[in-house]
Amino acid sequence: MESEVPLPQQVEGLRSDFAQALSALKSDPASTIKDVEDLRVRFTGKKSQIQSLMGGLKSLEGKDRAEAGKTLNLLKRDFENELKAVREEVEARQQAAELAGEWVDVTLDIDPRTRGGLHPLSVIQYQIEDVFTSMGFQILDGPHIETEYFNFEALNTPADHPARDLQDTFYFEDGNVLRTHTSSIQIRGMKRLEPPFKIIGPGKVFRCEKVDASHEATFHQLEGMMVDRDIKVAHLSYFLKELLSQVYRREIEIRLRPGFFPFVEPGFELDIACLICEGKGCKVCKSLGWVELLGCGMVHPNVLRHGGIDPDEWSGFAFGMGLDRLVMSRYGIDDIRLIHSADLRFFRQFI
Ligand code: DAH
Repeated sequence: MESEVPLPQQVEGLRSDFAQALSALKSDPASTIKDVEDLRVRFTGKKSQIQSLMGGLKSLEGKDRAEAGKTLNLLKRDFENELKAVREEVEARQQAAELAGEWVDVTLDIDPRTRGGLHPLSVIQYQIEDVFTSMGFQILDGPHIETEYFNFEALNTPADHPARDLQDTFYFEDGNVLRTHTSSIQIRGMKRLEPPFKIIGPGKVFRCEKVDASHEATFHQLEGMMVDRDIKVAHLSYFLKELLSQVYRREIEIRLRPGFFPFVEPGFELDIACLICEGKGCKVCKSLGWVELLGCGMVHPNVLRHGGIDPDEWSGFAFGMGLDRLVMSRYGIDDIRLIHSADLRFFRQFI
């Protein structure tokens, strides 16, 4: 043995050091598993006193050696057992503290006025999306900041077209634009998908408008497009009548009037029979019996080509509808500016 102190005394000293350290650790509520581990290393690890005593056994003979070995093994086993127990205790304490920190009272009553709700525009948009997706349309998106190519050129709208006028379009210095319609999503869809396909693209659009109760510089549209073989105007009117009837949850009468949009040929304005007077004529429809709802038409061959689609093999229809007016008529909102206002008194009505 390296030390002069007799073994039984050394063992006694170790037991009492250990007991002291262990009780300090147990009584400190902030003790961690790492503290337990440090204690284990200190008392039973490679550099611990037990280990060095065990190393010293070599110098003893026969019975002495066996006895001292037994004592030290017993000591080590006792330490290990106690460490194991205290480790479990600390673990349980840590877990209990974590659980207490995450505790949520699910029975707590919350003030209903603090609950959030969907914006009325989202409500209408999601309803329309449901109708379209149930008929096999996929929903696509596109960026608000577009290149002139996606917003105009690929949509057969040449540089001298009046729609490109600075008065209508917000231009960036680098020549990009804030998209003036969701029709740019058509091009993105065609470039990404193989025909046949059916897509819709809802989103914000921007125009340099003078803002008043019925005009906003930021408003919302929903674009639609179907590309397949032998698509005709009949498909366009069938699909739109069906879809609109589902959106309005009643049989809708539609009519197509010729309308010009550079990206369709022929192009139409689609009217629906006034929902208030059912076509008889009233204030809402200005006695016309019909209300203008959207622009549509057969996709122009140039547009298909820009989308990488062969117009001799494929054809399609497209349409674009404004969402803000739909929302306004559904909820009786008489000022479009409220839609983008942050006025909680207005929005709380829809929760
Ligand atoms: N982009 C047009 C607008 O903003 C709406 C439109 C008309 C979209 C005809 C179409 C279409 O897809 O075929 O006024």
